Amino acid sequence: MSTSPTSITPDAGFAGCLSIPGWDHFYTGKVRDLYQHPSHPDHMLMIATDRLSAFDVVMKETVPDRGRVLTHITEYWLEQVSDLIPAARVTIDPAEIPNLPEDLHDILRGRITWTRRAERVNVEVVLRAFLAGSGWREYEATGRLWDHALPAGLQKSSQLPEVLHTPTTKAEKDEPITWEQAVELIGCDTDANLIHDVALRIFNGAAKTAAEKGVLLADTKFEFGRIDGQLVLIDEVMTPDSSRYWPANQVVEGNEPPSFDKEIVRAYLRSLEDWDRTPPPPTIPADIITQTRDRYLEICQILTGGSPV
Ligand SMILES: Nc1ncnc2c1ncn2[C@@H]1O[C@H](COP(=O)(O)OP(=O)(O)O)[C@@H](O)[C@H]1O
Ligand SMILES: [Mg+2]
Repeated sequence: MSTSPTSITPDAGFAGCLSIPGWDHFYTGKVRDLYQHPSHPDHMLMIATDRLSAFDVVMKETVPDRGRVLTHITEYWLEQVSDLIPAARVTIDPAEIPNLPEDLHDILRGRITWTRRAERVNVEVVLRAFLAGSGWREYEATGRLWDHALPAGLQKSSQLPEVLHTPTTKAEKDEPITWEQAVELIGCDTDANLIHDVALRIFNGAAKTAAEKGVLLADTKFEFGRIDGQLVLIDEVMTPDSSRYWPANQVVEGNEPPSFDKEIVRAYLRSLEDWDRTPPPPTIPADIITQTRDRYLEICQILTGGSPV
C-alpha cells in the first residue's frame, strides 16, 4: 500500500495511509491505520479509514464515511458502558490530540481516536444471542457451540437459550478455542472471569437498548487489553463490523436475516463465478458501494440517533 498522502474530496472515500509530519505510521490493519508520536509512546492514533474488506481481502473501492460510522458507533457504546469497565480511548476530538497538525483536523475529524496503548489480550471475546455465521455452521455440523451443549432442532437465526461466549484466537485466521484455552491466553482465572462477566453485562445492556430501537444484536466481538495491569476495553465496540445487527421485524427462523453491514458486497462477490477470494479483488459497482454506505448510515442513525456526516 502506498505511503503518499491520499487526496481527499468530501464525496470520496478515505483510503488512509496518510503521512502525518512527525508521526510514525506503524500498522495498517484492514480498516485502521495506527500512528505513534515519539513524545507519546504510551498512546497511539487510530484512524478508521473507509477501506472495505470482504472474505479477508481489502477491496480497491472505499465506502465513503464508513470509518466515521464505525468511530461514531464505538463512541456511542463506550459512553454507555463506561461504568462497567474503563476504556483505552482518550478522546476523538482532534483539538485534544497533542502534536496533531492543525491542517489535518478537518480531514480526520470523526474518524480519529486518540487511545492509550494497551497490552492486548489475544482473545476475541465473541458473544452470541442467536445462531448465525460460524456459530450456525458449527451447530449444524455438531449440534454444539464451542464448549456448550445445545438443544436439538434449532435453526439458522434461532435465539439461543442464553447468551453464549464463544472465544477465538486473535490471529491472522481466528480459530475457535475452549474456555480453558481462553483462560490460558488471558493469563489467569480472575481476569478471564472478569472479562467474561463484563462482556456479558455489556452485551445484555446493549441488546436491550438495541431491541428498544427495533434491532436485534445477534452477536458481537470485544477486545480487551491491559494498561498498568488493569483490564480495559480496546478497539471498536459493537460496530456493524464487529457485530451482527438484524432488523427485529425481519427475523424469520430458518432464514438469514438482512444484516446492517457489508452483506450487500459479500452477496455481490458470491455472485461472481470467476473470483477465488484471493487478491486482486474484483471491481465493485458504484451502486453496490452506495447501497452499502446507506446501510452503514442507517444503522448508525438507528442506534445512536445521529449521523457522523
Ligand atoms: N488500545 C489499544 N491498544 C493496543 N492495540 C489496540 C488498541 N485498540 C485497538 N488495537 C488493535 O489495533 C488494531 C486496529 O486496526 P484494525 O484495522 O481493526 O486491525 P485488524 O485488521 O487487525 O482488525 C487491531 O489489531 C486491534 O487489536
Ligand atoms: Mg479490527
